[in-house]
Amino acid sequence: MTYDIAVIPGDGIGNGVTEAVEPLLIDVADTYGVDVTTTWFDWGSERYLEEGALMPDDGLDQLESFDAILLGAVGHPEVPDHVTLRGLRLPITKGFNQHVCKRPSYLFEGVESPLRGYAGGDIDLVVYRQNTEGEYADVGGREHQGFANEVAVQASVFTREATEAVVRPAFEAARERDGHLTNVTKSNAQAHSMVFWDEMVEEVSEDFPDVEVERLLVDAASMDFVRRPDEFDVVVASNLFGDILTDIGGGIMGSLGLAPSTNINPDRTYPSMFEPVHGSAFDIMGEGIANPLGMVLSGSLMFEHLGEDAVATALWDGVADQLADDDAPRTPDIGGDATTAVVASDLADRLVE
Ligand code: NAI
Ligand code: MG
Repeated sequence: MTYDIAVIPGDGIGNGVTEAVEPLLIDVADTYGVDVTTTWFDWGSERYLEEGALMPDDGLDQLESFDAILLGAVGHPEVPDHVTLRGLRLPITKGFNQHVCKRPSYLFEGVESPLRGYAGGDIDLVVYRQNTEGEYADVGGREHQGFANEVAVQASVFTREATEAVVRPAFEAARERDGHLTNVTKSNAQAHSMVFWDEMVEEVSEDFPDVEVERLLVDAASMDFVRRPDEFDVVVASNLFGDILTDIGGGIMGSLGLAPSTNINPDRTYPSMFEPVHGSAFDIMGEGIANPLGMVLSGSLMFEHLGEDAVATALWDGVADQLADDDAPRTPDIGGDATTAVVASDLADRLVE
């Protein structure tokens, strides 16, 4: 098979990890007879600073014909965060109905979790985050700015279609895994949106009598991600709650730099997008030391989505083997002193003949 992949490295460490990992993905795919062609787009904050927009007006049209999109990260110290997010990632996830943000948290052997007493494989959960609406709906406004009666309104939007679009695959994943699903909610305080959310989970659960459903309020769930992460299997959450929980997920797996992410268009009308969970990391940008493995694992999830399971497994297992090897180079976030490029090329040596 041949795949055309759009590559948007974006800003900060997004550039470093994308440049290091893109050739590795192509070469590993080639080993399995899978042909990958990439087209790079220099969209991001530099473009915004020069031309006033992170991507061109017809950006979505340019991306639509690709089989998948690989994104580094966006975010720039000189551009407000709401401008970068709303200028690139959100238009793509919303415009391509990428309702499902699937984010695994896995503690690999050889990586130390900040939590005491957890060994490789003890943390193995996956969050299904609603990715196109909820608290990230662009609905609201501001009035009377600068005056005493200034007001800001931001509305959450929950639709039956986009809620079911994430809840159903979460149940399907639970059925394939350990048969346990945690519904993360806040229906005590949000009596409209979150009660609706709970009802949707309840309704879909009727089709999955073999899946055990646990319901947790998001504050308690946050504590339990730290206190008993080993007991989670599949977690389903709204956009904001899933966003927050998956940074905790990155933390407990030893580094946010290891955490992969997906933005999936379930009916495959549009390309899906794959990116690490992390952002552009102002504190280490330009140093060449960002961990590239979250990007490699995101590539693994991309090939899984494309149906190329052999490539997906090779990438995932390659990362696991490298992390388990005490002698392998590793970046500073997981206790080493190697650069992004050295870690990626060591992985390539292991995976490509
Ligand atoms: P961040 O994820 O960029 O960084 C958080 C912390 O994790 C930092 O200490 C950073 O050094 C560390 N870290 C992240 N990735 C790492 C890696 N691969 N290797 C080693 N350490 C790593 O989050 P932050 O600082 O809140 O946001 C920075 C910018 O990124 C902001 O503009 C934000 O809006 C944007 N952002 C963009 C995302 C995206 O493009 N999908 C996602 C999250 C944030
Ligand atoms: Mg986030």
